[in-house]
Amino acid sequence: SKNSGPDLRSPICCILGHVDTGKTKLLDCIRRTNVQEGEAGGITQQIGATYFPTENIRERTRELKADATLKVPGLLVIDTPGHESFTNLRSRGSSLCDIAILVVDIMHGLEQQTIESLNLLKNRNAEFIVALNKVDRLYGWKSSPNAPIVKALKQQSNDVKNEFNMRLTQIITQFKEQGLNTALYYKNKEMGETFNIVPTSAISGEGIPDLLLLLVQWAQKTMEEKLTYVDEVQCTVLEVKVIEGLGTTIDVVLVNGVLHEGDQIVVCGMQGPLVTNIRALLTPHPMKELRVKGSYLHHKELKAAQGVKISAQGLEHAIAGTSLYVVKPEDDLEDLKRTVMQD
Ligand code: GTP
Ligand code: MG
Ligand code: NA
Repeated sequence: SKNSGPDLRSPICCILGHVDTGKTKLLDCIRRTNVQEGEAGGITQQIGATYFPTENIRERTRELKADATLKVPGLLVIDTPGHESFTNLRSRGSSLCDIAILVVDIMHGLEQQTIESLNLLKNRNAEFIVALNKVDRLYGWKSSPNAPIVKALKQQSNDVKNEFNMRLTQIITQFKEQGLNTALYYKNKEMGETFNIVPTSAISGEGIPDLLLLLVQWAQKTMEEKLTYVDEVQCTVLEVKVIEGLGTTIDVVLVNGVLHEGDQIVVCGMQGPLVTNIRALLTPHPMKELRVKGSYLHHKELKAAQGVKISAQGLEHAIAGTSLYVVKPEDDLEDLKRTVMQD
């Protein structure tokens, strides 16, 4: 939708949390996909990226607030692994994001990688929302698919409501022990100082409208300056992958700026800087996961924020986690080659 405010890019939202709390399943629920069931051992082992256009967010939040103001073009969501061996990927994911979702299993409370993730977010002073997931596992839960959470809770028996309140209170206490104030988002009177909790189910979708709307509105409200689009390219390599028909490609997160087909780029390589030209600029379809093989959309140019697959010659030795630079006419290539190797 058009508005008179500044040109905002899509916020980048990273999903963090302990293994098997339902991070990928929450995204599957929003995307209406089945990525999680395709994972080896049900474990995420890579960073993922999915673009959610605002029209899809509008559709999923209509029942909650039909006339909400959604000023951003969409939301780029970064999925991360919760397994303890992937600390580096959680750190990379959290360093890319504007806002995060910290997923906690309501049946387990805070776990080891919840606390690790929390510390990553604290260290970066990052905004985040707690998704208190798996509410459908409360004994006797009556599901109301994709309903706003207040509506879903109203339909529960007193026993379910009591178990919910008991577990919620315990988890708020556990956060307090970590030095954080948290509260149910719809009861939170000190937004900003007290972190918001949104109860969710990734299986039946309760609370998903609340999570999406809160993410977009919170981002718009508190980080307009950070989300104001700038031309300077900011781009990070996530993965280096061989794809049939494309050769070696890199999956990147474009945080700011524009990439064009044909752009000369410089990437950090194992044996030195790699200088090449973008042969194809690809994305998955909206609401599809970048890390899952599928059909790609070709673009002449792409504006941030996006998860992008780049095909180009000579990318075999590119290093994940490093920055990608675009060579502009006024740039000194030798300077950029030195800069890129400092990552
Ligand atoms: P990692 O990426 O490996 O850290 O796990 P994850 O946090 O992405 O969790 P994942 O989506 O793999 O879900 C783990 C298991 O919990 C799967 O069997 C899911 O079906 C199940 N699960 C996830 N969310 C929910 C939920 O809301 N309710 C119920 N009942 N099960 C869920
Ligand atoms: Mg996962
Ligand atoms: Na898992």
